[in-house]
Amino acid sequence: MKKALILSVMVIFSLFAVSSAFAGAAKCPQPRKTKAAPGSIAKKDMTAKADAANGKKLYNKTAKPMACKMCHGEAGDGGGKLGKALKPAPRNFACSATMKKVSAGQMFHIIKNGSKGTGMAKQKLSDKEIWDVVKYIRTTFVK
Ligand code: HEC
Repeated sequence: MKKALILSVMVIFSLFAVSSAFAGAAKCPQPRKTKAAPGSIAKKDMTAKADAANGKKLYNKTAKPMACKMCHGEAGDGGGKLGKALKPAPRNFACSATMKKVSAGQMFHIIKNGSKGTGMAKQKLSDKEIWDVVKYIRTTFVK
């Protein structure tokens, strides 16, 4: 009797552990609602001279209206606290199957202008700050 009880408690705990492991990261491959940037902007890439350390600060703390990690997650996997409630879900930057279609210029364009019909608002950042955060994301999460 006691054994059965211990066993069922263990089963419940392991189910819980499995489901909470899945609750974080967004799907991969991930459907994309965001539209393509104009070709000339999509091909632009100014990350060579950008400052990834400043990008990290923006991503995790100082970006306006809100730190990117609130939705995209500290691990860049789309698992941020606020992101869970959003449909479509925030981009999972760690998902290479989806990110191979997303260029640095595409990211710049969406961060600057927002993505209509999604929770991705245009950010109040200077062009330099946007390239900094694009560099941080691409060098840290995108494989
Ligand atoms: C309120 C939640 C939220 C915040 C805060 C947020 N995002 Fe997003 N982001 C989203 C959602 C939702 C999408 C759209 C996903 C889709 O296209 O299906 C998105 C899309 C994007 C894309 C589009 C990539 C593509 O597929 O073309 C980029 C790049 C991006 N976000 C970067 C950022 C950066 C950088 C910040 C911080 C400066 C930020 N986001 C803050 C929710 C958020």
